[in-house]
Amino acid sequence: MQICVIGAGYVGLVTATCFAEMGNQVICVERDPQRVARLAQGEVPIYEPGLESMLRAQLASGQLSFSAQLNSGIRRAEIIFIAVGTPSGEDGSADLSHVLAVADELGERLEHACLIVDKSTVPVGTAERVEQRINAGLARRGKRVRVSVASNPEFLKEGSAVEDFMRPDRVIVGCEDERGRELLRRLYAPFLRNHDRLLCMGVRAAEFSKYAANAFLATKISFINEMAGICARLGVDIEEVRRGIGSDRRIGTHFIYAGCGYGGSCFPKDVKALIRTAEHEGIEPVILRAVEARNALQKTLLFQALREHFNGHLQGRVVALWGLAFKPGTDDLREAPSLVLLEALLIAGARVQACDPAATAAVAARYPEAVQSGQLVLSESPYAVTQGADALVLVTEWKQFRQPDFPRIRGAMRMPVLFDGRNIYEAEQLAELGFLYRGIGRPASGSCKASAA
Ligand code: UDX
Repeated sequence: MQICVIGAGYVGLVTATCFAEMGNQVICVERDPQRVARLAQGEVPIYEPGLESMLRAQLASGQLSFSAQLNSGIRRAEIIFIAVGTPSGEDGSADLSHVLAVADELGERLEHACLIVDKSTVPVGTAERVEQRINAGLARRGKRVRVSVASNPEFLKEGSAVEDFMRPDRVIVGCEDERGRELLRRLYAPFLRNHDRLLCMGVRAAEFSKYAANAFLATKISFINEMAGICARLGVDIEEVRRGIGSDRRIGTHFIYAGCGYGGSCFPKDVKALIRTAEHEGIEPVILRAVEARNALQKTLLFQALREHFNGHLQGRVVALWGLAFKPGTDDLREAPSLVLLEALLIAGARVQACDPAATAAVAARYPEAVQSGQLVLSESPYAVTQGADALVLVTEWKQFRQPDFPRIRGAMRMPVLFDGRNIYEAEQLAELGFLYRGIGRPASGSCKASAA
């Protein structure tokens, strides 16, 4: 099929590359000419495992190309995907200006009938607005072209986006017209193999499904984090509770890992946007507000625990941080819990030695003064940052941090104190190795009195 993907951001790049990989002819249109030039050379501006090699192979095969010209992208397209950003507006609602600008441009330029698909996360009613804007443009030009707009939200996770796209749990297609549904069914058939995982529904239901899915996942995390807080007070290990409840299939084992809070580009933004939608409809979003509030609190727990450990005096203390990206497998720092901790530590006068396999450059660009003054030291070596540290804090559970050489770390640190923001270590083992260990929602081990939450 001939496909055009508008937007070479996270979703657009993965979408375009994976459709090309499945044998479609794809043009990805991006308005930033410098980004287009880099992409055309096979340089991927985001960190996503497997994406660059697949993109290069598809560029070489001629299945995938990039262009800054909308006209050349849409000229022969049977399906046009809109995959531009929908950031949070000032009031937290989704800012649709990029999506609607694309709709206006399509109205000004489209010459033939085709299916337009919203891939961006957009509030209910957006597909209708996009269709109206395109039709208004076409009418102004006197074009009698039939355009329908479908919703096909993306559920990919950063760090496994290519895998998620190539083998989706399900594909949601919101489309009111049979021809459009058929086109999308054909397009996705090779990704779904013999599984019947293409779910067709109304456009508005598809749009809402994306928000509901992310809000539910965020709720699971905030719920388990709240349970962790209660466990900590009761001397119960949340990790045992997690296993205990996760084995009930109605609850499930995924997304019930307690930690120092969720971050990323989707959960915080989508929960906020859904709160605004509910308010707009006169519904008080009691649960969603609690999900947000718990997460905001959760992100402060590691700092509170450190402050308590050092009796309120962090000035001059050396704190080693492991993991800065909002989760493993990405260099994305958006809404990362690490930043809340890092900023609080810098303000409190601590010296921070931080390590991340992918995000140190982005952190250096964010805090140039702290780097220059030496208050913030960044490194890609997990061991280097533990040198002379008074505490080590695991914030993001990269594989590199899972089974470190603890005796070596203990030897390097001034004090062997470990705060585990993701509960990836065994408390007893660490206590045996001489560490004072504190997790999230776990009884303290070593000679420490209380746990982090
Ligand atoms: C999420 C959704 O999973 C995806 O379907 C959607 O399309 C975009 O948003 P992503 O933001 O890439 O994907 O990351 P995800 O793996 O879902 O993790 C989000 C955050 O939740 C991370 O900060 C992670 O550390 C945290 N998390 C996740 C927990 O704290 N506990 C868990 O059990 C799972």
